[in-house]
Amino acid sequence: MNKVFPKESLINGIGVFAHIDIRKGNPILKIDDTRVVTADNPLREEDDEHEYHCDYLAGEKVVLMQLPERHINHSCNPNSFVKTINGARYVFALSDISAGEEITYDYCINSSGDTLWHCNCGSERCRKEIHSDFFHLPITLQLEYLPLLDSWYIEEYKTEVEHLLASSGVS
Ligand SMILES: C[S@@+](CC[C@H](N)C(=O)[O-])C[C@H]1O[C@@H](n2cnc3c(N)ncnc32)[C@H](O)[C@@H]1O
Ligand SMILES: [Zn+2]
Repeated sequence: MNKVFPKESLINGIGVFAHIDIRKGNPILKIDDTRVVTADNPLREEDDEHEYHCDYLAGEKVVLMQLPERHINHSCNPNSFVKTINGARYVFALSDISAGEEITYDYCINSSGDTLWHCNCGSERCRKEIHSDFFHLPITLQLEYLPLLDSWYIEEYKTEVEHLLASSGVS
C-alpha cells in the first residue's frame, strides 16, 4: 500500500498526505527521476508538464517530478527530507508523521539559484520571503540542515559547505 495520497492542501494546490503513521527515519516514498528534461526532450505544457514541477539536481540535470512526489509542498518546518541511497532518491520522515498529516520538505535544502517567492506554509517558523539558495538561509538554519543535505549537493557545493563548517568552528 502507498504510504501517501494526494489531496487539496491549505498550503498550496494539491499536497501529499500520509495514509498511515510514519516513524521518524523511515522512507516515505522512492522518487522517480526517470523523466529528464533536456533540449531534445523539453517540457510539454500541453501535457501538463510545468517548470514548477521540476527538480534541479547535480550537474544541472533537470528532472520532471512524477506523481505523487511532484505535489509535495514546501514548509519552513518540514517533516521530511530527500536523500540519495545507492543512486536512488527517497523521501524520509524527519519526524514522526501521523496519518492524515501533510508531507512537506524545505525546498531550500539541496537548492541553489536566486528565485524569490512568498511562503504560505503557516508554520511558526515560516520565513515568509524565501530565497531559493541554501546558502542564503540564516547560518544557524544552514547548520541545522547540514546533516540533511544530499551527497550530490555536498559534492557540488564543497567549497561553500567547507566554509560553513569552518565558520561554525567544526572541521
Ligand atoms: C512541486 S509543486 C508542489 C505541489 C503543488 N501544490 C501542486 O499543486 O502541484 C511546487 C509549487 O507549489 C507551490 N508551493 C509549494 N509550497 C508552497 C508554500 N509553502 N507556499 C506557497 N507556495 C507553495 C509553489 O507554487 C511551487 O512552485
Ligand atoms: Zn513558510
